[in-house]
Amino acid sequence: MVRHHQREEAKGAIAAWLEWHALAGVDCCLLEPGQRAPQPRMPPAEPTRPGLAPEPLAPPGGAAPLTPLPGMDARRIARSCRTIADIAQALETFEGCPLKATASRLCLFDGNPEARLMLIGEAPGAEEDRLGKPFVGPSGRLLDRMLAWVGLDRSQVYITNVIFWRPPGNRPPTASELAACLPFLERQIALVAPELLLFLGGLAARTLLGLQEGVTRLRGREFLYRNTDLERGVPAYVTYHPAYLLRQPAQKRFFWRDLLQVAARLGLDPRPPHPAP
Ligand code: URA
Repeated sequence: MVRHHQREEAKGAIAAWLEWHALAGVDCCLLEPGQRAPQPRMPPAEPTRPGLAPEPLAPPGGAAPLTPLPGMDARRIARSCRTIADIAQALETFEGCPLKATASRLCLFDGNPEARLMLIGEAPGAEEDRLGKPFVGPSGRLLDRMLAWVGLDRSQVYITNVIFWRPPGNRPPTASELAACLPFLERQIALVAPELLLFLGGLAARTLLGLQEGVTRLRGREFLYRNTDLERGVPAYVTYHPAYLLRQPAQKRFFWRDLLQVAARLGLDPRPPHPAP
């Protein structure tokens, strides 16, 4: 009887401990059962670029860094892809991004590879990781509602992220994870060859345009995105990430303006249903 009581108490304590971690965003285990996390011997490195997570430390006592720098190989593989399906296939066997080991599946794109408008977000979250498609969680649902304001749905846009596997606990991606995915992102842009790019959040603007300013300063302006695979530059706009708008609903009016600007640039005739959500 006492034993049963103690077991139930222990179960309760473990459940509370797990719930506490889940609330803090720790929702997966990166070690084998029984394995203990190595104790870092140095303070963590400073982020190499603003908004990026520090690179993982070298393992204690050991030489090689935990993340291989995949640059050249990724570029060569990405260049050999002739279609979006080729990219998806290449990424299924690509081992240059350590996030692949902790994510459930690849999350590459949703929408129409022939779309005139390409949206680029940041990284998959829990729902995206489960379903293998970008923007299918709470921010995706808001994005869909906002696209509908200007008469767009997913059949008329191509949506991807700068990162194709979910970072554990939704932490910011590291510079080497971004570097591993970048050639495949650039190749997608070249293959879709959209008329317009819309970057959702500052990470896409930093990664693809090298701009370090915040979204508030970047939105409302037109940039020209170029890459060596593209015949000509593509006009690009930056706007707020839908996850930010979920936290700051008053900012939706700026997203709304940005979307109208994009729709006008595409020659669409948005007749938004009012009031806007
Ligand atoms: N946030 C993103 O940036 N991308 C997703 O796919 C989901 C949430």
